Amino acid sequence: MTKARWALFISGQGSNMSALLDQKWDLDVALVVSSSPKAQGLKRARRSGVPTLVLDAKIHWQKLGAELERLQITHVFLLGFMKIVPPEFLNSWTGVILNVHPSLLPHYPGLKSMERAYQDGADMGITVHHVNEQVDAGHVVLQKTIVPKDVVKKISFKSAEQMMHQAEYALVRRAVEGAYA
Ligand code: GAR
Repeated sequence: MTKARWALFISGQGSNMSALLDQKWDLDVALVVSSSPKAQGLKRARRSGVPTLVLDAKIHWQKLGAELERLQITHVFLLGFMKIVPPEFLNSWTGVILNVHPSLLPHYPGLKSMERAYQDGADMGITVHHVNEQVDAGHVVLQKTIVPKDVVKKISFKSAEQMMHQAEYALVRRAVEGAYA
């Protein structure tokens, strides 16, 4: 069995990426890709000695794919990567690109998912799924309810958000542990 070699894609804070890099376990992260030069997560990746790649405003997907191949990447995890991945890229990486999203998909895809679910008093949870060309859609790999709706009504948004983040890190780790080529 070949061990997975990961590229982690970020756009901002990169707390999911940091949680993965903080783990003292045998995880092969060969590259962190950011859609923005200002992403805070870039500094954290560099501190860990992980090579980084900042994408141009207009993403050259073919060039990116070639770079991933050069580095022998086998799996990609979108961790707060806020760009839509086009079919021409997905076709070369079928079944090995995952995304984490802070809602119980298909409910609340897109932006401000946690806020919207909280305001509606709906169940709040996390989904890890395979990526397709739609936003926050694709075959679900893992899904977990973190704050059931009866609890949502009793706690502050800040508390719910904290619970969600901690659970998100754990679910991402579970997905990574399960993904071996
Ligand atoms: C995470 O909560 C992740 O689930 C979400 O962005 C956040 C990134 O945080 N992703 C999406 O909303 C995808 N549609 P991070 O940069 O601190 O990991």
